[in-house]
Amino acid sequence: MPLVTTNLDLGVEELQAGKPVAIPTETVYGLAAMIDNEEAIKAVFAMKNRPLNHPLIVHVAHKWDLTPWVEDIPDYAKRLIAVFWPGPLTLVFRSNTMNPLITGGQSSVAIRCPAHPMAQALLNQLGTPLVAPSANPFGKISPTTAQHVKNSFADKELTILDGGRCTIGIESTIVDATNPENYRILRHGLIDEKAIAAVVSTPCINEKSTLRTPGALDSHYQPQKPLYYFETVDELAQFCQKQGENVFVISCKKPKEIDEEMFHALSHQPEEVAYDLYFQLRKADESKAACIAIELPEATSEWEGVRERILKAGSKLEDVKFM
Ligand code: TXA
Ligand code: MG
Repeated sequence: MPLVTTNLDLGVEELQAGKPVAIPTETVYGLAAMIDNEEAIKAVFAMKNRPLNHPLIVHVAHKWDLTPWVEDIPDYAKRLIAVFWPGPLTLVFRSNTMNPLITGGQSSVAIRCPAHPMAQALLNQLGTPLVAPSANPFGKISPTTAQHVKNSFADKELTILDGGRCTIGIESTIVDATNPENYRILRHGLIDEKAIAAVVSTPCINEKSTLRTPGALDSHYQPQKPLYYFETVDELAQFCQKQGENVFVISCKKPKEIDEEMFHALSHQPEEVAYDLYFQLRKADESKAACIAIELPEATSEWEGVRERILKAGSKLEDVKFM
């Protein structure tokens, strides 16, 4: 049985003893292990059922010197660090010193400085970075509360540090900063291309990267129930008309067939939708609904993080045949 606790010292002890520990971050909960303990890292892969060639993000405390792990930090990345760290921005740097178990054998490493005070306190006490993939079984929805982590690993011996509900709610933005001339966004998040462009003038390259990013797989973040997404609220309403009341709906307007407790009103603020997205998908999974219907936000830069999650978690109705 997992143990949910706010005892930071216990988390430190367990990590130092080579056991994975679930930790809060401002984005989603992570399943952490110290970067210098291969057995603990392998245990993280095993617990998540994650393929071994999928690289992990290395988490550091604020203001730590990155030179032991990173070959070169381009000037624009230094600026991004100064503005966005600690916070939900992961940067991928060239590296030849990091354990290949962490990098998936690539000559780059992803580094993130989480803003959650408990994560910072833990890192500072340990004095060593932590790998921390999201604390969910591979391909499933990331956890935004300690209880979510407990539910996912109900039969495991695991210490879960409870830092409350994650304030961001979706995973960090990942920027490939291996090229000093330009950068790429490998995974979208709440720090969007516009926010980055407001800080650096370096060009953003949009064609597909050759770096392997499992978050870029077509299906990911999946709830247990079928999730269908709709470009417009009218299409969603039509679907509910045909389908009857047995749908959990996440949209800006409640279809009349749907009961209040099977409906979540979509906000017009990307931050608010990100905060609630995984939380509501889990609630939908626990409801009596046979499926989940969600309205896609518009395809603008600020919504990209939320859209990317929905597109990977769900399917378009034409693709699955009208039921
Ligand atoms: O918000 C987050 O980033 C959360 C919290 C716990 O910090 N962590 C997280 O980790 O989302 P995970 O393992 O679920 O996703 C890590 C992503 C994957 O898409 C992986 O491919 C990418 O980071 N990644 C890691 N190292 C990389 C590298 N060297 N090059 C390119 N992508 C990398
Ligand atoms: Mg993940």
